[in-house]
Amino acid sequence: MNFDEIIDRRNTNSMKWDKLEALYKDADLWPMWVADMDFKAPEPVLKALDEVTQHGVFGYHHPPDSLRTAIQEWTHRRFQWDIQPEDMTFTPGVVPAIHHLINAFTDEDDGIIIQTPVYHPFFALLRSNRRTLLENRLLEGENGKYEIDFEDLEAQMKKGAKMIILCNPHNPVGRVWSETELTKIAELCERYEVIVVSDEIHADVVLEGKHTPFASLEAARDVQVVTGMAPSKTFNLAALQLSYVIFNDKEMQKSFERQLQQNFTGIGNPYSSAAAEAAYRHGEPWLEALISYVQGNVDYVKERLEREMPKIHFTEPEATYLLWLDFRELEMSQEALQQWLRQEGRIALNDGHTFGKAGSGFARMNVACPREHVIEGMNRLKTAYDKL
Ligand SMILES: Cc1ncc(COP(=O)(O)O)c(C=O)c1O
Repeated sequence: MNFDEIIDRRNTNSMKWDKLEALYKDADLWPMWVADMDFKAPEPVLKALDEVTQHGVFGYHHPPDSLRTAIQEWTHRRFQWDIQPEDMTFTPGVVPAIHHLINAFTDEDDGIIIQTPVYHPFFALLRSNRRTLLENRLLEGENGKYEIDFEDLEAQMKKGAKMIILCNPHNPVGRVWSETELTKIAELCERYEVIVVSDEIHADVVLEGKHTPFASLEAARDVQVVTGMAPSKTFNLAALQLSYVIFNDKEMQKSFERQLQQNFTGIGNPYSSAAAEAAYRHGEPWLEALISYVQGNVDYVKERLEREMPKIHFTEPEATYLLWLDFRELEMSQEALQQWLRQEGRIALNDGHTFGKAGSGFARMNVACPREHVIEGMNRLKTAYDKL
């Protein structure tokens, strides 16, 4: 594994590299946006995919039991969370899974809580399904670490919330919610009978601390919890479209699977199954090396900002390879900030306000790329900074 290797992704139909013109109206921006990595997947994954190709038959497929046990062993080893192979239902992505969960367990106009600023498709999922957004804004604690506003969370639940969509670890603010914080959420959800959809797609890339699956908590035993996970962020397999949701309630799982059937939602192909199983069985050393490499990139950005661009701030993420950069000290409108980043910086970051109003003055930077790419991005940012 050589994370320094530069792999040209241009002209490969990569969202990050080849959609710049369509989305930013400028194909020459330096892309540090879409949450995937510019790294090759682990070698055992590539080998498993080759074997599928060599077999050469691509008929209808179902994910094998051996994938279920590989996942079971993974959650046990990484999170000391014991689940059964039959507790999981495969889905073609965590976002599609949440869409079907919303439809299976809530009705039109029902209130659903999300904790903002947050991964932007959560807003779209509520909007397109005509559910009522109940916004629980995160608080900026001392030292820039975001915290949960529990008083407001309870107030949102009192409005009759049916569901909360948690993001743990949190994209974009990089928090790994602690057991204490999660326990408090669980207690409130039990009291107000709120279903928890815990999006834990970023659970594997933890830089500091330890990920706690919400459903593993003692306090969540009497709460209906559905956990969304996937190898996609962890091993850079997003295009293979395999994820799974884990239920702690059999009846809910049955309803959900009915919902998938009624919507003709497919559940995988031989490539995604083979890749996921190889990743979970043999990809751990790669993941550990990745985490160290990403931490090195985070340190690099931190050092450059502190030394050369002191008005741009960020708090080191506890998880994910996404940096939530705070440009508020530059006192620009969100529009002016975006324009400055593009025109002066020649860089494509995710615009902060797509994560909700709470993201105004921020932009998200993806550092899951070779160090050389991070250096280029920071050089560009510095050029823009010097023109201020
Ligand atoms: C919190 C979160 N959930 C879900 C996804 C996407 O999941 P999928 O590609 O499996 O739909 C992302 C991707 O960035 C994410 O950050």
